[in-house]
Amino acid sequence: MSKKIFSGVQPSGNLHLGNYLGAIKNFVNLQNEKNNQCVYCVVDLHAITVKQNPKELKDSIRETTAAFIASGLDYKRSIIFNQSSVPSHSEGSWILSCVARMGWLNRMTQFKEKAGKDKEKASVGLYIYPILMASDILLYDTTHVPVGEDQKQHLELTRDIAQKFNLEFNCPDFFTAPEPLIQKTFARIMSLKDGKKKMSKSDPSDLSRVNLNDSKDVIINKIKKAKTDDKSMPEDNKNLNKRPEIENLLGIYSSLADQKIEKTINEFSGKNFSEFKTKLSEMVVEKISPISTEINKLQEDKEFIDKILRDGSERANEIASKKVNELKKIVGF
Ligand code: TYM
Repeated sequence: MSKKIFSGVQPSGNLHLGNYLGAIKNFVNLQNEKNNQCVYCVVDLHAITVKQNPKELKDSIRETTAAFIASGLDYKRSIIFNQSSVPSHSEGSWILSCVARMGWLNRMTQFKEKAGKDKEKASVGLYIYPILMASDILLYDTTHVPVGEDQKQHLELTRDIAQKFNLEFNCPDFFTAPEPLIQKTFARIMSLKDGKKKMSKSDPSDLSRVNLNDSKDVIINKIKKAKTDDKSMPEDNKNLNKRPEIENLLGIYSSLADQKIEKTINEFSGKNFSEFKTKLSEMVVEKISPISTEINKLQEDKEFIDKILRDGSERANEIASKKVNELKKIVGF
Protein backbone atom coordinates (compact mmCIF):
# COMPACT_ATOMS: atom_id res chain seq x y z
CA MET A 1 0.00 0.00 0.00
CA SER A 2 1.35 3.44 -0.81
CA LYS A 3 1.88 5.71 2.16
CA LYS A 4 1.82 9.47 2.40
CA ILE A 5 4.74 10.33 4.64
CA PHE A 6 5.45 13.66 6.33
CA SER A 7 8.08 14.50 8.92
CA GLY A 8 10.12 17.44 10.11
CA VAL A 9 13.35 18.32 11.84
CA GLN A 10 14.21 21.61 13.52
CA PRO A 11 17.18 23.55 12.18
CA SER A 12 18.47 24.56 15.58
CA GLY A 13 22.15 23.82 15.83
CA ASN A 14 23.77 20.52 15.18
CA LEU A 15 21.83 17.42 14.36
CA HIS A 16 22.93 14.44 16.42
CA LEU A 17 22.91 10.66 16.46
CA GLY A 18 19.47 10.65 18.14
CA ASN A 19 17.95 12.60 15.23
CA TYR A 20 19.66 10.28 12.78
CA LEU A 21 18.81 6.92 14.38
CA GLY A 22 15.40 7.96 15.72
CA ALA A 23 14.16 9.71 12.59
CA ILE A 24 16.30 10.50 9.53
CA LYS A 25 17.49 6.93 8.91
CA ASN A 26 13.84 5.92 8.82
CA PHE A 27 13.02 8.81 6.42
CA VAL A 28 15.48 7.30 3.96
CA ASN A 29 14.09 3.75 4.29
CA LEU A 30 10.55 5.02 3.69
CA GLN A 31 11.63 7.06 0.69
CA ASN A 32 13.21 3.97 -0.80
CA GLU A 33 10.06 1.85 -0.39
CA LYS A 34 8.05 1.62 -3.60
CA ASN A 35 5.12 4.00 -4.11
CA ASN A 36 5.53 6.11 -0.97
CA GLN A 37 5.06 9.87 -1.34
CA CYS A 38 7.44 11.54 1.08
CA VAL A 39 7.56 15.13 2.30
CA TYR A 40 10.43 16.13 4.61
CA CYS A 41 10.41 19.56 6.13
CA VAL A 42 13.06 21.71 7.79
CA VAL A 43 10.79 23.21 10.44
CA ASP A 44 12.23 26.70 10.82
CA LEU A 45 8.99 28.14 12.27
CA HIS A 46 9.30 25.62 15.10
CA ALA A 47 12.93 26.63 15.64
CA ILE A 48 12.05 30.22 16.57
CA THR A 49 9.88 29.08 19.51
CA VAL A 50 13.17 29.45 21.38
CA LYS A 51 15.63 32.27 20.75
CA GLN A 52 17.66 31.96 17.56
CA ASN A 53 20.41 34.16 16.20
CA PRO A 54 18.94 35.68 12.99
CA LYS A 55 22.42 35.80 11.48
CA GLU A 56 22.80 32.04 11.89
CA LEU A 57 19.30 30.74 11.18
CA LYS A 58 19.60 30.61 7.39
CA ASP A 59 22.82 28.62 7.61
CA SER A 60 21.21 26.24 10.11
CA ILE A 61 18.36 25.69 7.64
CA ARG A 62 20.93 24.91 4.94
CA GLU A 63 22.85 22.63 7.29
CA THR A 64 19.77 20.56 8.14
CA THR A 65 18.91 20.34 4.44
CA ALA A 66 22.48 19.20 3.74
CA ALA A 67 22.15 16.58 6.50
CA PHE A 68 18.97 15.24 4.84
CA ILE A 69 20.73 14.88 1.50
CA ALA A 70 23.96 13.54 3.02
CA SER A 71 21.96 10.87 4.89
CA GLY A 72 20.46 9.60 1.64
CA LEU A 73 17.34 11.65 0.94
CA ASP A 74 16.85 12.33 -2.73
CA TYR A 75 15.34 15.74 -3.47
CA LYS A 76 13.83 14.46 -6.70
CA ARG A 77 11.97 11.55 -5.12
CA SER A 78 11.05 13.33 -1.88
CA ILE A 79 9.80 16.86 -1.38
CA ILE A 80 12.37 18.68 0.75
CA PHE A 81 11.58 22.24 1.81
CA ASN A 82 11.60 24.68 4.70
CA GLN A 83 8.37 25.39 6.55
CA SER A 84 8.43 29.21 6.54
CA SER A 85 8.45 29.27 2.73
CA VAL A 86 4.97 27.71 2.58
CA PRO A 87 2.58 30.16 4.30
CA SER A 88 -0.26 27.61 4.42
CA HIS A 89 1.39 25.98 7.45
CA SER A 90 0.89 29.11 9.55
CA GLU A 91 -2.58 29.77 8.16
CA GLY A 92 -3.68 26.21 8.90
CA SER A 93 -2.13 26.42 12.34
CA TRP A 94 -4.31 29.41 13.30
CA ILE A 95 -7.52 27.66 12.28
CA LEU A 96 -6.49 24.48 14.10
CA SER A 97 -5.63 26.46 17.22
CA CYS A 98 -9.31 27.37 17.37
CA VAL A 99 -10.15 23.66 17.35
CA ALA A 100 -7.55 22.37 19.83
CA ARG A 101 -8.42 22.66 23.53
CA MET A 102 -6.31 24.25 26.26
CA GLY A 103 -6.70 21.09 28.34
CA TRP A 104 -5.08 19.04 25.57
CA LEU A 105 -2.08 21.35 25.32
CA ASN A 106 -1.68 21.51 29.08
CA ARG A 107 -0.92 17.80 29.04
CA MET A 108 2.05 18.07 26.63
CA THR A 109 5.08 16.82 28.51
CA GLN A 110 7.59 18.27 26.06
CA PHE A 111 6.37 21.80 26.78
CA LYS A 112 6.79 21.16 30.50
CA GLU A 113 10.33 19.88 29.96
CA LYS A 114 11.35 22.65 27.58
CA ALA A 115 9.73 25.50 29.51
CA GLY A 116 11.37 24.25 32.71
CA LYS A 117 10.63 25.89 36.04
CA ASP A 118 9.88 29.33 34.66
CA LYS A 119 6.80 28.55 32.57
CA GLU A 120 5.62 32.17 32.66
CA LYS A 121 8.65 33.22 30.62
CA ALA A 122 8.29 30.57 27.89
CA SER A 123 7.12 31.90 24.52
CA VAL A 124 3.49 31.37 23.55
CA GLY A 125 4.92 29.79 20.38
CA LEU A 126 6.56 27.05 22.45
CA TYR A 127 3.19 26.32 24.07
CA ILE A 128 1.22 26.08 20.82
CA TYR A 129 4.03 24.41 18.86
CA PRO A 130 2.19 21.03 18.64
CA ILE A 131 -0.68 22.77 16.79
CA LEU A 132 1.72 24.01 14.11
CA MET A 133 3.03 20.45 13.92
CA ALA A 134 -0.55 19.20 13.42
CA SER A 135 -1.00 21.73 10.61
CA ASP A 136 2.24 20.51 8.95
CA ILE A 137 0.98 16.95 8.99
CA LEU A 138 -2.70 17.41 8.18
CA LEU A 139 -2.25 19.72 5.17
CA TYR A 140 -0.59 16.88 3.24
CA ASP A 141 -3.26 14.21 3.97
CA THR A 142 -0.44 12.36 5.66
CA THR A 143 -1.05 8.73 6.53
CA HIS A 144 2.24 8.01 8.35
CA VAL A 145 4.67 10.13 10.36
CA PRO A 146 8.14 8.73 11.12
CA VAL A 147 9.40 10.21 14.41
CA GLY A 148 11.39 9.36 17.52
CA GLU A 149 9.59 8.33 20.69
CA ASP A 150 9.58 11.87 22.12
CA GLN A 151 7.08 13.05 19.48
CA LYS A 152 4.45 10.37 20.17
CA GLN A 153 2.25 12.61 22.31
CA HIS A 154 2.27 15.35 19.66
CA LEU A 155 1.05 12.80 17.13
CA GLU A 156 -1.81 11.80 19.42
CA LEU A 157 -2.76 15.47 19.68
CA THR A 158 -2.69 15.73 15.88
CA ARG A 159 -5.12 12.82 15.66
CA ASP A 160 -7.41 14.43 18.26
CA ILE A 161 -7.42 17.73 16.36
CA ALA A 162 -8.18 15.97 13.05
CA GLN A 163 -11.06 14.01 14.55
CA LYS A 164 -12.56 17.00 16.38
CA PHE A 165 -12.44 19.15 13.25
CA ASN A 166 -14.04 16.46 11.08
CA LEU A 167 -16.80 15.98 13.64
CA GLU A 168 -17.43 19.64 14.43
CA PHE A 169 -17.62 20.73 10.80
CA ASN A 170 -19.44 17.63 9.68
CA CYS A 171 -16.81 16.57 7.13
CA PRO A 172 -15.86 13.04 8.25
CA ASP A 173 -13.20 12.47 5.59
CA PHE A 174 -11.57 15.89 5.38
CA PHE A 175 -8.56 15.35 7.64
CA THR A 176 -6.78 12.00 7.74
CA ALA A 177 -5.77 10.90 11.25
CA PRO A 178 -2.10 9.94 10.76
CA GLU A 179 -0.30 6.93 12.24
CA PRO A 180 2.99 7.48 14.00
CA LEU A 181 5.86 5.34 12.72
CA ILE A 182 8.07 4.88 15.73
CA GLN A 183 10.74 2.22 15.54
CA LYS A 184 10.10 -0.69 17.91
CA THR A 185 13.66 -0.56 19.19
CA PHE A 186 16.17 2.29 19.58
CA ALA A 187 13.49 4.99 19.14
CA ARG A 188 14.93 6.95 22.04
CA ILE A 189 18.69 7.45 22.00
CA MET A 190 19.95 8.63 25.37
CA SER A 191 22.68 11.05 26.45
CA LEU A 192 26.22 9.62 26.56
CA LYS A 193 26.57 11.15 30.01
CA ASP A 194 23.25 10.11 31.58
CA GLY A 195 21.30 7.07 30.39
CA LYS A 196 18.06 8.46 31.82
CA LYS A 197 18.18 11.66 29.76
CA LYS A 198 17.37 11.91 26.07
CA MET A 199 20.24 12.79 23.72
CA SER A 200 19.41 16.38 22.86
CA LYS A 201 20.84 19.43 21.13
CA SER A 202 19.84 21.55 24.10
CA ASP A 203 22.06 19.63 26.55
CA PRO A 204 24.77 22.10 27.61
CA SER A 205 27.44 19.38 27.48
CA ASP A 206 28.64 18.62 23.96
CA LEU A 207 30.06 15.35 25.37
CA SER A 208 26.49 14.12 25.86
CA ARG A 209 25.90 13.63 22.13
CA VAL A 210 27.57 12.68 18.85
CA ASN A 211 26.82 15.42 16.33
CA LEU A 212 26.48 14.50 12.69
CA ASN A 213 29.29 16.90 11.85
CA ASP A 214 31.76 15.73 14.52
CA SER A 215 35.19 14.77 13.23
CA LYS A 216 36.54 11.25 13.67
CA ASP A 217 38.75 12.25 16.60
CA VAL A 218 35.89 14.01 18.37
CA ILE A 219 33.67 10.94 17.98
CA ILE A 220 36.36 8.63 19.38
CA ASN A 221 36.92 10.94 22.34
CA LYS A 222 33.19 11.22 23.12
CA ILE A 223 32.69 7.45 23.08
CA LYS A 224 35.78 7.00 25.25
CA LYS A 225 34.31 9.41 27.80
CA ALA A 226 30.78 7.98 27.61
CA LYS A 227 29.46 6.92 31.02
CA THR A 228 29.49 3.18 31.84
CA ASP A 229 29.33 1.38 35.19
CA ASP A 230 31.61 -0.80 37.28
CA LYS A 231 30.09 -4.13 36.24
CA SER A 232 31.24 -6.25 33.30
CA MET A 233 29.64 -6.40 29.84
CA PRO A 234 26.22 -8.09 30.14
CA GLU A 235 25.72 -11.71 29.15
CA ASP A 236 22.03 -11.37 28.33
CA ASN A 237 19.33 -8.69 28.28
CA LYS A 238 17.96 -9.55 31.74
CA ASN A 239 18.04 -6.49 33.98
CA LEU A 240 19.58 -4.42 31.20
CA ASN A 241 16.99 -1.72 31.87
CA LYS A 242 18.64 -1.23 35.26
CA ARG A 243 21.86 -0.28 33.44
CA PRO A 244 20.57 2.50 31.16
CA GLU A 245 23.98 3.74 29.97
CA ILE A 246 25.06 0.26 28.88
CA GLU A 247 21.69 -0.43 27.27
CA ASN A 248 21.99 2.83 25.34
CA LEU A 249 25.52 2.14 24.04
CA LEU A 250 24.54 -1.41 23.03
CA GLY A 251 21.44 0.06 21.36
CA ILE A 252 23.47 2.60 19.38
CA TYR A 253 25.81 -0.14 18.17
CA SER A 254 22.91 -2.44 17.24
CA SER A 255 20.98 0.28 15.45
CA LEU A 256 24.01 1.31 13.38
CA ALA A 257 24.82 -2.33 12.59
CA ASP A 258 21.14 -3.01 11.79
CA GLN A 259 21.03 -5.98 14.14
CA LYS A 260 19.12 -7.08 17.23
CA ILE A 261 20.52 -6.04 20.59
CA GLU A 262 20.76 -9.73 21.61
CA LYS A 263 23.29 -10.28 18.83
CA THR A 264 25.39 -7.35 20.03
CA ILE A 265 25.24 -8.65 23.62
CA ASN A 266 26.53 -12.05 22.45
CA GLU A 267 29.28 -10.41 20.41
CA PHE A 268 30.67 -8.56 23.42
CA SER A 269 29.83 -10.69 26.44
CA GLY A 270 32.97 -11.60 28.38
CA LYS A 271 34.91 -8.74 26.75
CA ASN A 272 35.88 -5.61 28.63
CA PHE A 273 34.35 -2.17 28.19
CA SER A 274 37.36 -0.64 26.49
CA GLU A 275 37.22 -3.27 23.77
CA PHE A 276 33.50 -2.63 23.27
CA LYS A 277 34.05 1.13 23.18
CA THR A 278 36.76 0.76 20.55
CA LYS A 279 34.41 -1.26 18.33
CA LEU A 280 31.56 1.16 18.99
CA SER A 281 33.75 4.13 17.97
CA GLU A 282 34.73 2.31 14.79
CA MET A 283 31.08 1.62 14.03
CA VAL A 284 29.99 5.23 14.66
CA VAL A 285 32.89 6.58 12.59
CA GLU A 286 32.17 4.15 9.76
CA LYS A 287 28.49 5.17 9.56
CA ILE A 288 28.59 8.84 10.53
CA SER A 289 31.85 10.17 9.05
CA PRO A 290 30.76 9.78 5.40
CA ILE A 291 27.61 11.76 6.27
CA SER A 292 29.64 14.41 8.03
CA THR A 293 32.04 14.76 5.07
CA GLU A 294 29.11 15.07 2.68
CA ILE A 295 27.37 17.70 4.86
CA ASN A 296 30.51 19.83 4.81
CA LYS A 297 30.89 19.43 1.06
CA LEU A 298 27.26 20.31 0.35
CA GLN A 299 27.39 23.36 2.57
CA GLU A 300 30.06 24.88 0.40
CA ASP A 301 27.51 25.21 -2.40
CA LYS A 302 24.81 27.37 -0.84
CA GLU A 303 23.18 28.06 -4.20
CA PHE A 304 22.67 24.32 -4.76
CA ILE A 305 20.97 23.89 -1.37
CA ASP A 306 18.85 27.00 -1.86
CA LYS A 307 17.68 25.64 -5.20
CA ILE A 308 16.67 22.31 -3.62
CA LEU A 309 14.62 24.25 -1.05
CA ARG A 310 13.05 26.52 -3.68
CA ASP A 311 11.99 23.58 -5.83
CA GLY A 312 10.72 21.67 -2.79
CA SER A 313 8.75 24.69 -1.57
CA GLU A 314 7.04 25.06 -4.92
CA ARG A 315 5.94 21.43 -4.87
CA ALA A 316 4.88 21.60 -1.20
CA ASN A 317 3.00 24.84 -1.77
CA GLU A 318 0.92 23.28 -4.50
CA ILE A 319 -0.37 20.58 -2.13
CA ALA A 320 -0.68 22.65 1.05
CA SER A 321 -2.33 25.74 -0.45
CA LYS A 322 -5.02 23.60 -2.06
CA LYS A 323 -5.81 21.94 1.26
CA VAL A 324 -5.79 25.21 3.19
CA ASN A 325 -8.20 26.76 0.68
CA GLU A 326 -10.60 23.86 1.20
CA LEU A 327 -10.13 24.25 4.94
CA LYS A 328 -11.04 27.94 4.78
CA LYS A 329 -14.15 27.17 2.76
CA ILE A 330 -15.31 24.59 5.31
CA VAL A 331 -14.81 27.10 8.13
CA GLY A 332 -16.95 29.60 6.24
CA PHE A 333 -14.44 32.13 4.91
P1 TYM B 1 13.20 17.61 16.57
O1 TYM B 1 13.80 18.59 15.63
O2 TYM B 1 13.38 17.84 18.04
O3 TYM B 1 13.75 16.17 16.26
C1 TYM B 1 13.74 15.65 14.94
C2 TYM B 1 13.47 14.15 14.99
O4 TYM B 1 14.48 13.49 15.75
C3 TYM B 1 13.89 12.68 16.76
N1 TYM B 1 14.77 12.68 17.95
C4 TYM B 1 15.19 11.57 18.56
N2 TYM B 1 14.96 10.26 18.30
C5 TYM B 1 15.55 9.36 19.12
N3 TYM B 1 16.35 9.70 20.18
C6 TYM B 1 16.61 10.99 20.46
N4 TYM B 1 17.40 11.32 21.47
C7 TYM B 1 16.01 12.00 19.63
N5 TYM B 1 16.05 13.36 19.63
C8 TYM B 1 15.29 13.75 18.58
C9 TYM B 1 12.54 13.34 17.05
O5 TYM B 1 11.64 12.44 17.63
C10 TYM B 1 12.13 13.81 15.68
O6 TYM B 1 11.48 12.77 14.98
N6 TYM B 1 8.32 18.85 16.55
C11 TYM B 1 9.36 18.11 15.88
C12 TYM B 1 9.52 18.51 14.43
C13 TYM B 1 8.26 18.56 13.63
C14 TYM B 1 7.59 17.45 13.06
C15 TYM B 1 6.49 18.00 12.34
C16 TYM B 1 7.81 16.07 13.11
C17 TYM B 1 7.59 19.67 13.24
N7 TYM B 1 6.53 19.33 12.48
C18 TYM B 1 5.59 17.15 11.65
C19 TYM B 1 6.90 15.25 12.43
C20 TYM B 1 5.84 15.79 11.72
C21 TYM B 1 10.70 18.35 16.56
O7 TYM B 1 10.90 19.35 17.21
O8 TYM B 1 11.65 17.41 16.27
